Formats: sequence, C-alpha cells, structure tokens
Amino acid sequence: MTFKINGKNFSEQPTAGQCLRTFLRQLGWFGVKKGCDAGDCGACTVYLDGEPVHSCIVPAFRAQDHEVTTIEGLAGGNELHPMQRAFLDAQGYQCGFCTAGMIMTAAALNQSQRADLGQALKGNICRCTGYRSIEDAIAGKHEIENAKGGEGVGYNVAAPAGPDVVTGKARFTMDFAPQGLLHIKLMRSPHPHARIRSIDKSAALRVAGVVAVLTHEDAPKTAFSTARHEVRSIDADDTMVLDTVVRFIGQRVAAVVAESEGAAEEGCHQIKIDYEILPAVFDPEKAMAPGAPVIHDKDAKESRILDPQHNIVWKVDGGIGDVDAGFAQADAVHEGTYFVPRVQHAHLETLSAIGWTDAAGRLNVRSSTQVPFLTRQELARVFDLDLAKLRVFCERVGGGFGAKQEMLIEDIVALAALHTGKPVKLEFTREEQFIAATTRHPMRVHVKIGARRDGTLTAMQLDVLSNTGAYGNHGAPVLEHACGESISVYNCANKKVSGVAVYTNTVPAGAFRGYGLPQTGFAVESAIDEVARAIGMDGLEFRRRNAIKRGDRMISAHVSPDDVIYGSYGLDQCLDLVAQAMDQADGDKPPSPDWLVGQGVALTMIDTVPPGGHYSDSKLTLRADGGFDLTVGTAEFGNGTATVHTQVAATTLMVAPGKFHLQQSDSDHGGHDTGAYGSTGTVIAGRATQLAAEAMRGKLLDFAAAQSKTPRANCSLIADAVQCGAKSVPLIELFKAAQAAGTQLTAAGTTDGMTRSVAFNVQGFRVAVHPVSGEIRILKSVQAADAGTVINPMQCRAQVEGGVAQALGAALFEEVVVDDKGRVVNPSFRNYHLPAFADIPRTQVLFAKTSDTLGPYGAKSMSESPYNPVAAALGNAVRDATGVRFYKLPFKPDRIFGQVAKAKRS
Ligand code: FES
Ligand code: FES
Repeated sequence: MTFKINGKNFSEQPTAGQCLRTFLRQLGWFGVKKGCDAGDCGACTVYLDGEPVHSCIVPAFRAQDHEVTTIEGLAGGNELHPMQRAFLDAQGYQCGFCTAGMIMTAAALNQSQRADLGQALKGNICRCTGYRSIEDAIAGKHEIENAKGGEGVGYNVAAPAGPDVVTGKARFTMDFAPQGLLHIKLMRSPHPHARIRSIDKSAALRVAGVVAVLTHEDAPKTAFSTARHEVRSIDADDTMVLDTVVRFIGQRVAAVVAESEGAAEEGCHQIKIDYEILPAVFDPEKAMAPGAPVIHDKDAKESRILDPQHNIVWKVDGGIGDVDAGFAQADAVHEGTYFVPRVQHAHLETLSAIGWTDAAGRLNVRSSTQVPFLTRQELARVFDLDLAKLRVFCERVGGGFGAKQEMLIEDIVALAALHTGKPVKLEFTREEQFIAATTRHPMRVHVKIGARRDGTLTAMQLDVLSNTGAYGNHGAPVLEHACGESISVYNCANKKVSGVAVYTNTVPAGAFRGYGLPQTGFAVESAIDEVARAIGMDGLEFRRRNAIKRGDRMISAHVSPDDVIYGSYGLDQCLDLVAQAMDQADGDKPPSPDWLVGQGVALTMIDTVPPGGHYSDSKLTLRADGGFDLTVGTAEFGNGTATVHTQVAATTLMVAPGKFHLQQSDSDHGGHDTGAYGSTGTVIAGRATQLAAEAMRGKLLDFAAAQSKTPRANCSLIADAVQCGAKSVPLIELFKAAQAAGTQLTAAGTTDGMTRSVAFNVQGFRVAVHPVSGEIRILKSVQAADAGTVINPMQCRAQVEGGVAQALGAALFEEVVVDDKGRVVNPSFRNYHLPAFADIPRTQVLFAKTSDTLGPYGAKSMSESPYNPVAAALGNAVRDATGVRFYKLPFKPDRIFGQVAKAKRS
C-alpha cells in the first residue's frame, strides 16, 4: 500500500484490520495518541487529505493513495503552525496528551466553527485544563511572559516542554519502541469472587507468536499494596502479582506475552481456567454484616487489615466534647445521608509501562507513574531484587490525578521482563481503566450538624462508610483524610467522627484528587448550608462566623495533627472575594424566565502535605553555558511543577528560568523523592529546589570571592554573573575557572515535609435549573484560592480551572455504574460522559494575598484542593434555585426533575 505521510511517500502494508492510529505509530509518528481507541476523545486526530479524522476508527487501508498529516507535519517545515504558536502563547495545555489532537482539530476550524467552539471541539476531550486556556489559545490570547534573570517567581513563565508538546515531540511513556518489544495482555476474571483450581495454558502457548503465559505459579508470593506511600505500612498488604483467588470482575488472572498484541489477546482467549465460584458481596453495609463472605481471609497482623473477618480494612473513631449535649443546645439541626459514587480519573494516557533488562543486568521500568522511587522500592521488595539492580523512571506522563500513585502495572511488566529476558510493554485499554484500575472511593456520609439561632455551631457528627472495593489500596488514609479537614475547618466544641472502610467484590478504589475530602466536603458543606437556612442566616456569613481563624486549633475529632500550622491564612480573604464576586450581576442570563435561578457557596481546607513525612531531594550543577542542570525526583504530569522548579531556582540564582536543564523523575538521578502526590510538587520538591539554589548561591559567591580575592561580603549575584567589588564575573567564566581548578560547582537541597500548612478554597456558583427537564446551566462560577505566593499565576489559575472542571464532571454527569453482579456496565468514555468543552463554564479565579512560611517563596499547594468545594457549592446553588436538597451525586437531569416536580406538588 502506498500513501503519503507529512509530505513523504511510504510503501508499507498494514496488518488485517489495523486502524490508522496504530499504523501511524508503528511508522514512528508518536504524536498520534491513544486515549480511547473508540472515536470518543480526539487524542488521535490526524488529517486525511486535509480533513480531521479520529485515526483510531479509520481503517489503515483507507490511507492508500491518500495523504495523511499528523501533528509532526502540520507546519510543513521547521516553523510552527500558527495554531501551535497560539497554544504555546496561551499555554493551552497541561499534561499535553490531548494537545496534538486538539491542535489538529483547532487548526482546521473555519471562522464560523470558531464562533461555536462547543460544537467544533465536541470530539476532543481534555481532562486537565477545563478548556479555558484552549479557548484562549484559539482566540489568540498571549499569556506567557519572558522572565529575565531573577524574575522567576510571580511571572507567567512558559512550561519548558511547551515546544515539544505542541509539535508532538514530547515523549510519553509509550512513545518509545525498543527493538524486539513484546506485548503483554492480561486475562481477567469473569467472576466477582472465585478460587482458581487450575489453569491450562497449553492451548495459549500454541498460539503463533505467544512467547510466555504467566500465572500465579510464576509469580512471587510476597503480598503488597498497589498504593504507594513513603511509609508503606499505611496500606494493607492484600495484593499479589497474580493470585489464586479473584475478588472482582476484571482482576488479572494470567499474563500472555507475545510478539504482537493480537497474538497476546488470542493467547488470553485460549487459557482455560477451572474456578471454584465463591459467594460475593457488593454492598459495603452487607459486607460488614455477620455471615458475609470473607473477601481477604488473612492474618490481621501480618496483612494490616483491621478486621478481615468482617471485611473491614480500617476504622476511624473519635470525638471531642459531648455531641448529644451540643445537639440539645441547638435551635436547628440538619441530619442527612449523602452519597458520592465511584468516579474515574480518566487521565487521557492510560496506565502503561515498558520493562527491559539492560546490558548490565539491571531491570529498567519506564512507566506512567507519579511515584517512580516508591515503585522501585516495592518492586525490589516483591521480586527480592537489590535496589541497585532496578531503575524506574518516567518521561512525560499524560495526566494522573492520583491514579498513578499506585503500582498497578509495573509488577506484571517486571515479571514478564524478568521471565522472558526481553523488552516487554503493557498498555491498558480504556475499558481496562474502568474495570481494573482504580476509582474514587464511593462513600455514604451521614452528617448531623446543629447550631444556635445566633449562628454558633453547637455540634458536628460525621459517620462515613467508604467502599474500598476488592483491595484496600489507599482505603485507610483516604478515610482518615476524609474525616479530617472537612470538619477541622470549623470551630465547634462538640464533634464526633466515625468511619469505616470496607471491602466489597467490586473494582478497587484508590487515590483521587482531594483524597476523600470531595466526598465528605459534599456532605458537610451541604449540611452547613441547611443549618444556616434553618436559622435564617446567609450561608457565607454562617461560614465566616464558624470557620477557623488564624491561631485556632484545628480539631478533626479523631486526630489533632500537631505538625499542621498556619503557615499563612487566607480563608477570610477567599470568603470575601467570593462574596464580592457573587454580588456582581455579571455572568450568563437564564435561557428563559421559567428557569429557576439560585446561588450557593462552599469552602474547603486542605493540609498542604500528606502526614508522616514526604521527602524530596534537588540538585543543581553549574553548566558550561552559564545555565544549570537541575535534577529533581518529582514527576511532571500536567501539574506544572517543571516550570515552578525553574522559576524558584531562577529567582534565587538571578538567571532566566529558561537557563535550567531539568531532569526529573528517574530513580537513577540519585537522592530520593516520595512522589508527585498530595500536591507536593511545589511545596515539598519546590522547597528542596529553593534550598539547593540557596546553597548554590553560597557556593558561587564563595568561589567567586576566592577567585577574585575579594571579601565575600563584597560579592553578590547579579543577572548571569557574580559581582565582586567592581568586577563582574559571568557564570560562564566561573564555570571555566572551576573546571581549571578541577572542581564542579554543585549544590543540593532536601525537604522532609514534617511541618505542614493549610490551604483554602471557596467556590461560588449561580445556576439556572429547568423545572421540567431537570437541566442545570451554570450562569456564573467563581473560585477564590489561598495558594500563598502564586509562583506562576497563569499555571495556578489553570490548575484551579482544571480542578473545577473535573469536579463539575463528577457533580453533573460522571458515575462508574456497577451492576448487582459486580460488573462495571459503562466502561467507555461514550457511556461515562466526560465533560467536553460545551459542558464547562469559564470560572473566575481569584487569589488571596498571603505568603506561607513553609513553601518555596511562600507558595502553598493548589493541585487537588480546587476540586473539593465544587459539588457542595453546586448542590447549594441548586437547593437555592429549586428548594430541594439533593443528597446524591451526580446531579443528573432525571434525578433533578422528578424531585423538583414532587416538591412543587407538595
Ligand atoms: S483515541 Fe481515537 S478518539 Fe480517542
Ligand atoms: S492537557 Fe488535555 S488531557 Fe492533559
């Protein structure tokens, strides 16, 4: 078959049934991405004879005698296409995984299509940005700023990877194809609970191209948790690489390694398994009841499962004061049970990893991970390998949102690489993401809050039931966190918390942006609103009176962390900013007078670092060109930390951010990094970089002073040089002098995250609700954030916009539906409903003016927390509009209209 790609003629034959996407990637055009392979996300968009198509649903043979253009050929030369330039100027991306497809679609739009971007971009999903920066890019807005020496912090510095992202050159996990790469496919359980009696792999091994079939007999017998934390004992050891018992539909049973994906898939079909079917339980309340099937029949002490016989992974219990007395003093009490379902992270890059043993006999794992260092440690433990024999690293990661704070694939990749001695790869399909990765913990939250008429909270009670699914990864810490800041943000003399995380035979839950706080925040902030209404007080004013002020003890009832301080406090400002913004009559108008209009707010607090220590090492080395090599362990997956690190170091060292050559997230880089989770990329790793930069500044001054024989006190850093007395020594000269003296100018910084601060977010919505259809239109969205010093306003604003958009998806549409047999029934983007451009309003983002004592240059975390108040604020606005309190997410029209109609009748 002959065809043209990006102006070059090719003659190559696709395999039978091959789609254009995989064919193009096979030919090395890695700018063509996979998000779904079903025509739903647009990550694979290319032009066929100049027309944008989703290449995953175009048969490769259709390209015969036609011309294909990918992102790599869009500009037709070394120059950027105007749309690529526009995405750079407005930084219309975060992780960048959707960007190539988005640019291809946007570049093909005519003027009338640009006037209706909701329609024009309906085939392209972005999970990170919330679409505002994409809209700005298409509108030609210029956001980035050129910072000079010493101007890093506070500037809209462009992400270092930008040029590679917009041209398709950025290398994500799967954009690497070593010679002889083998493919892994996983055979998965069709049963929610069963014991494997026997596995017959003989037919699978006879499939042409199959190299190995791996079962529990080939796998290590060491139990672990897929969750990764600095302190591994936080999570229960309840998982095996390949187990003899399956506990949910979709659990891996065997791995087939083959020369092609097709052969590996066929091998999976040919495996014969004899199962002993075991009783299953899907409801967490039933799972705790006497006589329920025991899902993990393990020793409690050894596994660290709190109560295996009752399927209880972890419990939280605590209180202060006397809640009964507190409720007795109240003039109004609200009591209700709120439900938050499973939702999926839906990062566009699915879980993927490539493993191989190098010439030195070391196992290398290139992975789509937020935690390369911790994954390396756990692989070493499970496979009984010397740490020195293992390297785990990532290049660019296509979104994570907590889902990649797990070891969900690296173990099977390691097993296959060690077993075959060949390079192997595993890439989840979108369906596998839904049925076999992790979700948010579904929670039932019973909340009771009382207050006096004068606006004083008298009692708060929280009872949380968390469904951790078949495995307990993150089950305990998510529960602890859910029960923490959601009520410690309020002053109240009487508090009581109980919580339990329970196994069921369903897809496991895991870490997800907000880490439990979105669930309890929805319940608590809805209840706060109801109590305020009951005493006739404005909800915002009620919060202002009762929320903690600087210096108040932060008491969550079950733990009173003594390492959390007010490094800064901006909640009062956030409340004021949202109040002022909501008072403005701007925003959209309701479509017609019959729509019901209302508004609502909610607040949340978050500890800026997870408890128990979070470590980061950073290293700087002066380069011959007067720039610096900057090595950090934390990963870049759209969180913007790569940019922040260069800005922090640039400010301290008086050079432009562009003069730093960043190396990230590689366990070979030396030092340690706990990982890019818990919003620590700026606060912890950034602080390590600041310390490294300060140490480097000292070294530069010492060295320049000695060289120029000038007193150290007379030396100072100026842009790209050291000024010693009247003489200025450029950094390039300093490098040469150090080299001549046989030394290298390097410096390191390290942080442990042992003292933590708090950050705040307040969200406001004005909505219109259609009383008949139940449709919700967002007329106005405002979020005020206390992020401390905002290191990069453009990026920080985009984190808030992205967080609000992701949370709106969960509040309005998203739900992983599990049927009464434990099967996920909507494992595709098409049936799950990710928010598209038209679904997301522009959010006005406002920042409190604070500066934190702990974070680099006063910065606080702002990756997860913007998500947390969104569902509650939306529910409060819908309540205001309709008079009906909705207790269950998502607020789908069919749930809304019935209750609104019923309320009208009564
Ligand atoms: S990968 Fe083709 S549309 Fe999603
Ligand atoms: S930037 Fe769009 S999916 Fe990450």
